[in-house]
Parts: sequence; structure tokens; C-alpha cells
Amino acid sequence: MNVQNDISLKPYNTFGIDVKAKYFISISSVEDLKKVFSSEKFPQKFILGGGSNMLLTKDIDALVIHLNLKGKTVIEHTENEVLVQCQAGENWHEFVLWVLEHNFGGLENLSLIPGNVGTSPIQNIGAYGVELKDTFHACEALNLETLAIETFTNTDCKFGYRNSIFKQDVKGKYIIINVTFKLTTNEHKLHTNYGAITSELEDNSINQPTIQDVSKAVIAIRESKLPNPKEIGNSGSFFKNPVISKEAFLKLQNNFPDAPHYIVSETEIKVPAGWLIEQAGFKGKRFGNYGVHKKQALVVVNYGGASGKDIFELSKLIQKTVARIFGIPIEAEVNII
Ligand code: EPU
Repeated sequence: MNVQNDISLKPYNTFGIDVKAKYFISISSVEDLKKVFSSEKFPQKFILGGGSNMLLTKDIDALVIHLNLKGKTVIEHTENEVLVQCQAGENWHEFVLWVLEHNFGGLENLSLIPGNVGTSPIQNIGAYGVELKDTFHACEALNLETLAIETFTNTDCKFGYRNSIFKQDVKGKYIIINVTFKLTTNEHKLHTNYGAITSELEDNSINQPTIQDVSKAVIAIRESKLPNPKEIGNSGSFFKNPVISKEAFLKLQNNFPDAPHYIVSETEIKVPAGWLIEQAGFKGKRFGNYGVHKKQALVVVNYGGASGKDIFELSKLIQKTVARIFGIPIEAEVNII
């Protein structure tokens, strides 16, 4: 096994933070993954997937394991549906494009989300009215204690808004090695009600969109609002949209009658954190080589050379200011390391 020393993690995290891994290994088979975990040589280990949902604030004094498991296969075909299994190290968007080339439906709204397939269930990625859980069939994961491979069904995963069992009960205990999706082969169910998609399709005079049209619309919307991590370091939404009580929302609405919101249940309302952050004056604000994106206040950006600590401090300042003005706590969506 090829373990390297003092490797910069800059190419491995979408924020582009330049911290070092004391030891680094890229793993491309489950056998090698098991070998690493059965060896006692490196007691401290750190798993790295697509590096798209983390803010690295310090050097990693451990063996960083870069999961590079590749492959995508159709494992079952029925009349209207297909089960597609994808290995954890595949890039999410490339997988979505592959699925669309085969005319399999269900993932089109999730086009262009950064990250890898293996980490997608952990936070139940979602966009434009669709979440991963809507097509997730099962995943296989390595139990780091027993080194057995276990299967998690959709119910086992306890999916919630940007949440799953892998962030809660079994956090840090498993490595997802592949994910199987149940996708449609015909009679695709389109989700085009999300305002921005509707207008994007209308602008292009598309009345009867295909799944490929929906994907193109989503790509256009995301490209117009969200910075490309290859150009400007970022981790997508830095914060989660807070879910508050109806009473708290009525108070907010009293002072801010135009506050956008979504009803979650009879007693709970979700408020877009991007709106709160914009109202707090942070949208487009730049602090040297880092700041808040000018087109989407939920996204914190590294213009190049910022440290993870700087960005972490900015996120704290945003949280404090939003809490002071609105009395609403906002929680980071990215993992702070
Ligand atoms: N808004 C503002 N100012 C901003 C940003 C948003 O006022 O700077 C307002 C918008 O006007 C709109 C509302 O907030 O009324 C919602 O905005 P948008 O539709 O852009 O969605 P979001 O709630 O900001 C969520 C996800 C995104 C996902 C979009 C689209 C979370 C934390 N974020 O953002 O996910 O792409 O919906 O479905 O739930 C990600 O997780 O990395 C991500 C980009």
C-alpha cells in the first residue's frame, strides 16, 4: 500500500483550503480498504470523499484515506424501473450525466451538486424539490469495527432534511462503499414546480420537458447563482435553512412581512438562511481573500489563499449577527474539521 507523507489537501476539498495530511493513501478497492482498517500501523484515520462538505481548519494528524472506489452498473431491469449501483468514489455530477445518457429518470434535479456518490446519502443531498432519499434504494457500507459489509435500506437510513443515520446514531462507524438507486426507464416523474425551474423552461419555450431538459435547466440555474468550486472555493450552502416554531415565525413576520418561508408542518416553518444572511448585510461582502457569495448569501467563498480558520470565524460572525437581529439560530451544514 502506497502511503505518502505530508500531502497538501488543497486539491481534495472544494473550499480549496491548503492544509496538510500527515499520511495519505488513495484506496481503489474494498479489499485495500479492509487492509487499512485491519492494520494497526495508523491508529488515527480520516475518511475523505469528494471533500465538498467540509471546512478544514487545521492540518490532519492522521492517515487520510481518499476513497477512490469506481464503477457504475445496472444491477436489475424491470419493465419501468432500473436499479443502478454506483461506487462511492464516483463524482456525483458525472454519475447524474451518465444516468441521463441512459435516459434513466429521478436524479435530474440533483444535477451539478458537488461531491461524490458515497457521501451523498450522509446528508441526503437535495435541490429543487427533490432529495436523494426519493430514489435511494440501498447502500453497502463497511462496518469499521467488524470489517463486515452491511446493507442499509432507505428506511434504515432515517433520512431527514440534510440528515441521515450516518450523521446521527452510527456517525463515524461505517464507510459507505456503494449506493444503489431506483430510477425510472419510462413514464418519468418530473419535478418542475420549483419556481426557478418553471421560469427557466418557459424562457426556453420548453412545454413538454424531458429529464434532460430539466437537468439542463437546473444546471443553468445553479451556474447563474452558485460559484463553480473549480473557480472560487466553496462548499455549497454553508448553513442549513432553520426550521422554527410557528410562534417564532409570526414574530418574525410582524417585523418583516415579506419574509420568505415554507410550511414544514402545522407547527413548524422553514426560513431560508440565505434571506436572513442577506438581510443581515453579508451578501456579497468580501473580507480580503474570503467572503459571502454575491449571488447567494448561503454560500461562503474562498477567493484563494484563505485559511479554514478565517472562514470559520466569518461563519461564527454571521451566526451571531443573524441571532442578534432575528433571534433565529442558524446551523452550519458543512462539517468543520
Ligand atoms: N434568498 C435570499 N437571499 C439569498 C439567497 C436566497 O433572499 O442570498 C431567498 C430567495 O429569494 C428565496 C429563498 O431564499 O426566496 C430560497 O432560495 P433558493 O431557492 O436559492 O434556495 P435556498 O433555500 O437558498 C436550498 C438548498 C440548496 C439548493 C436550493 C435549491 C439548503 C441549505 N440549501 O437553498 O442546496 O440548491 O435550495 O433547491 O437547503 C447545498 O446544499 O449546497 C445547496 C446549494
